[in-house]
Amino acid sequence: MFDNMKPLTLSFVCIMYDTMFMSKESYMQHKWWMESVGYQIYPKSFFDANHDGIGDLQGIIRQLDYLEGLGVNLLWICPFYDSPMDDNGYDVRNFFDVSKEFGTMDDVHELIQKAHEKGIKIVLDFVLNHTSDEHPWFIESRKSKDNPYRDYYIWHDGKIVDGTKVEPTNWGSFFGGSAWQYDEPTDSYYMKIFSKKMPDLNWKNESVQQEMVNIAKTWLDMGVDGFRIDAVSHLDRAPFEDAISDGTEKYPLDWFKFSNLPKVHDYLKMLNQSVFKPYDCVAIGEVGGSASIDSGLLYSGFDSHELSMVFNFDHNWCNNLHETLNPKKLKTDVLALKRVFSSWQYAFESKGWLPLNWLNHDQPRLASQYGDYKYPLASLKMLATALHMMRGTPFIYQGEEIGMTNFPFEDVDQFNDVSSIANYQYHLNKEPDDPVKALKKAAQRSRDNARTAMQWANELYGGFSSVEPMLLVNPNYRKINVEDQIHDPSSLFNHYHKLIELRRHSAYHDVITFGSYEMLDEKDPDHYVYLRRYQDDVLLVINSFSRKPTRYDLSSYEIIECVITNMKRYHIKKNYIYLKPYESVVFKVKETL
Ligand code: GLC
Ligand code: CA
Repeated sequence: MFDNMKPLTLSFVCIMYDTMFMSKESYMQHKWWMESVGYQIYPKSFFDANHDGIGDLQGIIRQLDYLEGLGVNLLWICPFYDSPMDDNGYDVRNFFDVSKEFGTMDDVHELIQKAHEKGIKIVLDFVLNHTSDEHPWFIESRKSKDNPYRDYYIWHDGKIVDGTKVEPTNWGSFFGGSAWQYDEPTDSYYMKIFSKKMPDLNWKNESVQQEMVNIAKTWLDMGVDGFRIDAVSHLDRAPFEDAISDGTEKYPLDWFKFSNLPKVHDYLKMLNQSVFKPYDCVAIGEVGGSASIDSGLLYSGFDSHELSMVFNFDHNWCNNLHETLNPKKLKTDVLALKRVFSSWQYAFESKGWLPLNWLNHDQPRLASQYGDYKYPLASLKMLATALHMMRGTPFIYQGEEIGMTNFPFEDVDQFNDVSSIANYQYHLNKEPDDPVKALKKAAQRSRDNARTAMQWANELYGGFSSVEPMLLVNPNYRKINVEDQIHDPSSLFNHYHKLIELRRHSAYHDVITFGSYEMLDEKDPDHYVYLRRYQDDVLLVINSFSRKPTRYDLSSYEIIECVITNMKRYHIKKNYIYLKPYESVVFKVKETL
């Protein structure tokens, strides 16, 4: 609201604001993206407008009314740049063009314009850690050691061990195998922390930095509103020395060799100065699982002058997914989940801003991970409320709003994702006699779970396309689809809609968006309860993570009104609220103690 005013002229308002509820620092950072609700689109599986089985840009344009109806006003669109699609577009061949299967540059212009007409911002995925091996820079780079593009990538000679040439270090890559790839023309190795078709860029080279500045500016000049920055924590490398290995893996994956190293911050400060700040765009970094809260603040604290916010993954691991192969035995570690969310909320309270998301295109589905298959509707509504009532900018991953689930994989051929195939192979190598187990292991973590066709209707192929889609269609589209849920006031879709409405357009806008956060009953394993406070407004957010009926003590509050609930009615008796399994209710309250 004060975006356009100069800080000096604002000093009076700032002081008032300061004394009211927040530090001046956080107030000064008040930006449009703090009041947005985001939606992440994986273009390949969102909507196929031209009937070739692949989602496309016209498909997104076609569904803008749907997105507007849901209430979101920021779209993060996964890569649609020209690419050989080894990693579904994260392997970019040409940063300035659109992949043919997704459409044309005209479609991009049309999308930006039509989204903007609806007040919806467009945030692109900016892939700057690597390119495709088919990018012209890499084609040049691999030709000879003195090629002008040689230094755009990270090359190293092999190491001689017992008379044989091997990789320069034993580092493992995220997608399995070595982080180095041998390249014959120059008899040397290039670094690739993802797939061998995704060589890592050398950020130490200032020409690479300038190329990236240029790419970002080109898209911003075209009208996009910002970026989700892919794999941003990996732009610097430790000295090339072997990772410590316990002997079980030939190529141990040691994140610390290429994550969150000091130079990344220099590069981001440079990008901030030359791009993010002058364009006043949003820049949301993806910071890998090894990023601590402190490093999260280094990247995106208000004082860091690097990124606007960072996606972290700490809350993705709060269950026993690694211990069981039976989806029915999955159990959420509620105390861990509460602790993780709360630690980030507290640390960023006056120091920075957080995106709020459950999961994305790289994880299994929320419904299959934290939802309860016995109580899908109640548990998913509760999970939505628990997240959307926090301080930050919520992001919904496509299909989450209707409760899409993991795919029932039966065969390794059903995998499309490069990392799922590698993962299957990894498990099979460990236990060659048990391909069924290898399939189950790869399936339960597979990124393909999140990439099945969006389920629009109870129609052939879920209404995603009129021909057989390139990616999988989950057969449960008959029961789980947009069309049914839009018309059902008690659906998950309508619960999300209401949460967004409350945040963006209701009298609770300020408390939901800017209010402080306090977790209550930290040790209670059944309930995740927190307070949001802003001036005189206090919200009490109660979420039951229990399959059993429970009760929660309300004696410290006077209930003023119910803001949202996932049940038909709530039941209070003698200072207690009696909660059904997975009940969630938000009250406006007065604190009486
Ligand atoms: C990020 C993306 C993921 C991709 C990887 C390499 O983690 O989210 O989908 O495979 O970066 O670009
Ligand atoms: Ca298409």
